[in-house]
Amino acid sequence: MSARNIGFIGSGNMARSIVLGLLAKGHDPARISTADIDTVKVERLVREHGVNAASNEQIAQNCDLIVLAVKPRSMASACASLQPALAGRAPVFVSVVAGVTLARIEALLGSGLALVRCMPNTPALIGAGAAGLYANRHTSPEQKRGIEELMNSVGICAWCERESDIDSITALSGSGPAYFFLFMEALQNAAQRLGLEQSLAERLTSQTALGAAELARASEHGLAELRAQVTSPGGTTEAALARFEQGGFRDLVDGAVAAAAERARELARENG
Ligand SMILES: NC(=O)c1ccc[n+]([C@@H]2O[C@H](COP(=O)([O-])OP(=O)(O)OC[C@H]3O[C@@H](n4cnc5c(N)ncnc54)[C@H](OP(=O)(O)O)[C@@H]3O)[C@@H](O)[C@H]2O)c1
Repeated sequence: MSARNIGFIGSGNMARSIVLGLLAKGHDPARISTADIDTVKVERLVREHGVNAASNEQIAQNCDLIVLAVKPRSMASACASLQPALAGRAPVFVSVVAGVTLARIEALLGSGLALVRCMPNTPALIGAGAAGLYANRHTSPEQKRGIEELMNSVGICAWCERESDIDSITALSGSGPAYFFLFMEALQNAAQRLGLEQSLAERLTSQTALGAAELARASEHGLAELRAQVTSPGGTTEAALARFEQGGFRDLVDGAVAAAAERARELARENG
C-alpha cells in the first residue's frame, strides 16, 4: 500500500468493511487508526483486528491517508475537529460521505488539500463493492494510487472525469444493489406463486443472480448477446421477455435511474 498510515474518521459499517478489506490484503494493522464518537465500534476493531484506537486529532496529525466515513449530518463537526491539527500537513482525504461535495469539504477543512470523493456500495461489506472516485487537482498520482489500492481491497473502483459523474455513479452502483434486490424479491415471489417452497425459490433466485453476474463478467460477449443465447425462438424466455418489453421495463429502469441521479444532485445542494 502506497500510503503508510491510514486513519478512519467514523468507524461504522463502511469504515469497518474497508478496514477488513485492507487487513485481508495484508495491510499492517499497526498502520491503521480508527476513531469514532461511539467508542464501542473502535474497541471492537481494536480487540478483534489489532488496529489502533485514535482521536480525530491524532489521525489528522499522523496519517497520510484519511478516510471520512461519518454520516452527512456529522461532517461539519468531524471536519472541525480535524482542521486545527492539519497545519503544515498534507495528507490525502477520501470522503465516502454521500451528497457532500468537494467544495463543501474544502470549505470545512481548508483549501489546497488533496481531496477525493468516493461513492462506494454495500457489497463492499463482502469484498464485492463497486466504487466511483473523483479527485481534486491537488491530489498527486501517488495519492491516487493509494486510494485505488484502498478501494480495490473491497472490490473494484474507477476514476471519473467530472465530480457530477459521482451523482450518476450514485444512481448506478451506489443505489444499484437495491434495484437487484427488488428484482430478486419479485422473482422469488413469482416463483412461490407458481408453487415452489420459499427456501428453494430463495436459493435458486440468489444463485441465478450470482451466475448471471459472473457469466456477464467472464464472457467475451455483451449483455444483449448473452440474453439472446438464453432466448430460443418460441421458447419460455422469449415469452417472459416479451412481457417485460410490453410492460415498458426499459423506460421504467431509465426513469428510476434518472430519479436517483436527480435526488443525488438535490442532496448535494442541500448539504451545501
Ligand atoms: N453503508 C453503505 O453502504 C454506504 C454506501 C455508500 C456511502 N456510504 C456513506 O458512508 C458514510 C458512513 O456510512 P456508515 O453506514 O458507515 O455510517 P455509520 O455506521 O453510522 O458510521 C458512522 C460513524 O461515525 C460516527 N461519528 C459521527 N460523528 C463523528 C465525529 N465527529 N468523529 C468521529 N466519528 C463520528 C458515528 O457515531 P454516531 O452514530 O454516534 O453519530 C458512527 O458511529 C455515510 O456518509 C454514507 O453516506 C455508506
